[in-house]
Amino acid sequence: MTPALHEVNRPIVRVFQTAEMASNAVADLIEQRMLARPAITLGLATGATPRLVYRKLVERAGAPSWRHLRCFNLDEYVGLAAHHPASFAHYMRELLFDHVDIATARTHIPDGMAPDLDAAAETYEQLIAESGGIDLQLLGIGRNGHIGFNEPGSSHDSRTREVQLALSTIDANRPDFPEGEEPPATALTMGIGTILDAREIVLLATGSAKAEALAAMLEGPISLDCPASALQRHGAVTVFCDKAAAANLNFEQLDMRGSAHAAA
Ligand code: PGA
Repeated sequence: MTPALHEVNRPIVRVFQTAEMASNAVADLIEQRMLARPAITLGLATGATPRLVYRKLVERAGAPSWRHLRCFNLDEYVGLAAHHPASFAHYMRELLFDHVDIATARTHIPDGMAPDLDAAAETYEQLIAESGGIDLQLLGIGRNGHIGFNEPGSSHDSRTREVQLALSTIDANRPDFPEGEEPPATALTMGIGTILDAREIVLLATGSAKAEALAAMLEGPISLDCPASALQRHGAVTVFCDKAAAANLNFEQLDMRGSAHAAA
């Protein structure tokens, strides 16, 4: 049953002067959670936004150790092999996994090369459940309000599945692909329901291109038009953003609804 709004804690919003400061704070939070629970299950994100977070984590790698944790990435393109430079498997190896003490077997990314994508999606959900569920999920937000690759219109109960990417998403991701190569039009993604099952969620948004989506997520109605608005009913969400991404937020309104914010 969906909890009434007064029964959940609204997302906490923390605004930082720069993207680097916001990313540092996210890295700090991930490390705190890893120290508190060495066998933590992390949900990880890709894209431009979390690059600095991973850089910070790698710079400080060693303490805490990554040996006992398990991680699950949000999504992967359909039809891209793990060695493709634009695959999220490649991204994760390059930015994080190759630089920390985590065994490959403990890192999970949806298999966009699976001959049976429905079966791969179901297996992914089972693996998450078998690992005890995601303790801390890191998210970015798309300009259209997507989380993972859950585009506008996605059910808030959705689970891991194959999805069609919005044209704006394909365009936004085109620079990651070699010149002349068309990005895939479909992907495997955790569903919004899968994401909402995480015990704690951290969403990082930086840059003015995210200002509109962030305002819709936090101040708009909970609606299928803005997939990230589903996070309003989670109860343990912290948004880390820079001033540029926070530009459209109306803090008075947020505070009235019970959110807290801190400028750093
Ligand atoms: P970006 O993507 O970090 O590349 O802007 C975020 C997202 O689409 O979730």
